[in-house]
Amino acid sequence: MNGRTAVIIGGGAGIGLEVARRVVAAGGRVVLGGRTPSRLEAAAATLTGTSPSPTASMPAASSGVVSSGVVSSGVVSSGVVSSGVVSSGVVSSGVVSSGVVSSGVVSSGVVSSGVVSSGVVSSGVVSSGVVSWRVVDTADQESLSAFFDAVDQVDHLFTPAATYTTGPMRELSDEEAQSPFTSKFWGQYHAVRLALPKLTADASIVLMAGAASVRPPAPAPAYVACNAAIEGLGRGLAVELAPVRVNVVSPGTIDGNLWRQRSDEVRESAFAQYSRDALLARPGRESEVADAVMFLFTNTYMTGSTLYPDGGYALR
Ligand SMILES: NC(=O)c1ccc[n+]([C@@H]2O[C@H](COP(=O)([O-])OP(=O)(O)OC[C@H]3O[C@@H](n4cnc5c(N)ncnc54)[C@H](OP(=O)(O)O)[C@@H]3O)[C@@H](O)[C@H]2O)c1
Repeated sequence: MNGRTAVIIGGGAGIGLEVARRVVAAGGRVVLGGRTPSRLEAAAATLTGTSPSPTASMPAASSGVVSSGVVSSGVVSSGVVSSGVVSSGVVSSGVVSSGVVSSGVVSSGVVSSGVVSSGVVSSGVVSSGVVSWRVVDTADQESLSAFFDAVDQVDHLFTPAATYTTGPMRELSDEEAQSPFTSKFWGQYHAVRLALPKLTADASIVLMAGAASVRPPAPAPAYVACNAAIEGLGRGLAVELAPVRVNVVSPGTIDGNLWRQRSDEVRESAFAQYSRDALLARPGRESEVADAVMFLFTNTYMTGSTLYPDGGYALR
């Protein structure tokens, strides 16, 4: 990965962050995308060893306030400030106009430089550019476009970002049923399209699906169909974008950040069922999915494939 840049949208937590760890360890650079600045900032800090863990270092979204030409908390040592909000730290230089910090350097010890817009820190660079992050919402094409405008080149793209509802047809509204397609399918489709101008000739893309595509664990037909559609999207894009390589990773249930957000009861029941259903009798680990993604990033003869890090779940 030496000298190569991996863009990971959804890289602030979970599987995406595990992939980022591997890219940095292998000598590459990462650009993390997600919707929450504090999460991205904390992830960047863990990747560069400036903070022990994302939760321990997660700063408030806006911990300093500059209003009406007066800094009410925080220190501005150069520049002109008319008003705005400074997030987690001290502005050591910068220019502020029209109530918004339009450029500046934040020296909180975590973010060494960054651009502040709309009153909050929306991007940052750590360790001379080895890790950088930028706020993006894959549901918003303008946001995706601005995200890729700020990226020099994309050697690897991984897009695990998604937010959706799953469940039976009989129980979900149409809007809920469509949400996996809206967020997970079209979010990744638009991310790839808007990345095209920045893809290098030997770039590789890994899309995120899920092994529910081939074996539904519970009634959730639209979610199942969405994952199958993403696997098809990977094959279609591999044909269109060659020699750029496009592959898909389709994990089983993973014991990690996503399931930690759910109640103990829901998580334990899902893990027990998965342990009964998978050949390897346990849920997977984020590290095991990240290893599969790294293989797809780096194996130069892989394209149009879907890998299933699922412990043999799909076979039983
Ligand atoms: N974990 C599993 O068991 C499993 C199994 C099969 C498939 N998958 C697939 O893998 C994906 C990632 O899983 P994970 O375990 O890594 O989840 P995770 O820990 O929840 O991470 C998802 C990341 O995506 C970001 N994100 C969500 N919606 C976004 C949006 N609209 N725009 C930009 N960023 C967004 C989140 O940050 P913000 O909220 O701050 O934006 C978060 O950092 C899942 O969505 C799922 O489709 C997971």
